[in-house]
Amino acid sequence: MTFDVAMYATIAERLRWDDLELGRFRTDRLSDGALRCLRYMSDVETHTVCYLRDLLVTPSHTDPEVTTFLTLWNYEEYWHGEVLDQVLEVHDVPTGPEHTRALRKRLGWQDRVSPIVQSVLANLLGPDFIATHMAWGAINEWCTHAGYSRFIAVEQNPLLTEILRRIAKQETRHIAFYNSQARHRLELSPRAQRITRLALQHRWGIVGSTVMPDDDVRHLLTYLFGGSHGLAAARTLDAKIDTLPGQAGLHLVERELQRYGVV
Ligand SMILES: [Fe+2]
Ligand SMILES: [Fe+2]
Repeated sequence: MTFDVAMYATIAERLRWDDLELGRFRTDRLSDGALRCLRYMSDVETHTVCYLRDLLVTPSHTDPEVTTFLTLWNYEEYWHGEVLDQVLEVHDVPTGPEHTRALRKRLGWQDRVSPIVQSVLANLLGPDFIATHMAWGAINEWCTHAGYSRFIAVEQNPLLTEILRRIAKQETRHIAFYNSQARHRLELSPRAQRITRLALQHRWGIVGSTVMPDDDVRHLLTYLFGGSHGLAAARTLDAKIDTLPGQAGLHLVERELQRYGVV
């Protein structure tokens, strides 16, 4: 089934939470482990515009359907960061522009040269790079959706559940776009399949791992994917990745759990 980008453009929207009483968290506080996860997820959602910077310098910018999607995707992801920040604020965890500015500064010179490196490599690969971008996006959105689902199951806080449920609903639309694009483009090009497989094998890490400190990545993976239910969720993700043309048997998510010592 193809994804109707024009239709998506008319229904993409900022997340609403004005009907929810976030002050309830003052008496029904989230655990410290959950707050650390929330900090991570908020930072990564807010970082979407920086990921977008690195993608617009690649052949992906030549496809109007892709750029229309990315425009709205970036907007929706921004509001995911905002609502998570508001939950953190109720718990007296510092948020806002100063926090985000410090995070971006911390990334250093690699972050400043990354659009140049990405642009050179991606443009050398040509249009097949778009398939890699779409597959990467599908995998990251699958992981994000699964992460929110696991968060709901682990923390069992009704108000948090409602917020994350609303975010996850929008993530399913992101999944639908990337997944349909990736499948279509990979099916058309064995070369794109090979490039994507190599890129995933050698460069892919769990969402946010290029931005967040290793200790935070380890905490997130342990909190969300530790234990037998977590491992089962990771394997379900890997089985989904297996269904992308030419990408079977990579075991990317379980490999990350091993790399960070979770399993
Ligand atoms: Fe998001
Ligand atoms: Fe998303």
